[in-house]
Amino acid sequence: MSRIQVRDIKKVYNHDQVPVHALNGVDLDISEGEFTAIVGPSGSGKTTLLNVIGGLDEPTEGKVYIRDTDMFSLKERELIDFRLHHIGFVFQAYNLIPVLTAKENIAFILQMQGRPQKECNQRSMELLKMVGLEDKVDKRPAELSGGQQQRVAVARALASKPDFVLADEPTANLDSASTANLLDMMLRLNEEEKITFIFSTHDQRVVERARRVVTLVDGKVDSDEERTPNNEQGTSN
Ligand SMILES: Nc1ncnc2c1ncn2[C@@H]1O[C@H](COP(=O)(O)OP(=O)(O)OP(=O)(O)O)[C@@H](O)[C@H]1O
Ligand SMILES: [Mg+2]
Repeated sequence: MSRIQVRDIKKVYNHDQVPVHALNGVDLDISEGEFTAIVGPSGSGKTTLLNVIGGLDEPTEGKVYIRDTDMFSLKERELIDFRLHHIGFVFQAYNLIPVLTAKENIAFILQMQGRPQKECNQRSMELLKMVGLEDKVDKRPAELSGGQQQRVAVARALASKPDFVLADEPTANLDSASTANLLDMMLRLNEEEKITFIFSTHDQRVVERARRVVTLVDGKVDSDEERTPNNEQGTSN
């Protein structure tokens, strides 16, 4: 069963001036456990689509259902709560908080969920260990490499035990070694912890390891390709 159902999503920016049709009727079903890349040229609507799926940006038309919840029928407060408990974000606009350490950046999300301090600390440590940064718990973002910061961002995205993680170009600005590391980690979390990942990317190395590749062109799904788990060539539909 699909956990995420995107139904005929349209998004028009600048209604009153020159309208920009960022999404022109997107339909998409995402099942549990997917590891799906959203690709397409710059301006094709990838970030907009991720923002809409994550409930950060309201569509002009269409619906997003997550586990049967009609996302945009929720009141503002309910939507914030829904996001906090169901969705992990690795977005450039949601960077790490510079004055907080790696551990505090993760604990912060848990505190917002109202968890006891002890649990916040414990789970933050577990997550940093999971992403291989147990020796960096007390470092602030400026003391970490780009790749390490992205790993903290993924750990933070997982803190609330979300149903799925949305990542907008998670490997942008990373060198090859950090990209490979981050991908290994995401794939391991996908396989072992059954976490669903949906990520946009321009990076061919990332696309090659996706299980499914959805290509957007001009705000529409142009192709949707399933890959076999060993990344052999799949079939197009
Ligand atoms: N807040 C906004 N106001 C007006 N137009 C916007 C806004 N956000 C995006 N757009 C426009 O919507 C279209 C889709 O943008 P979007 O950021 O989703 O593309 P993208 O596929 O993520 O591109 P990139 O690969 O460069 O990140 C573009 O034409 C963009 O200029
Ligand atoms: Mg983008």
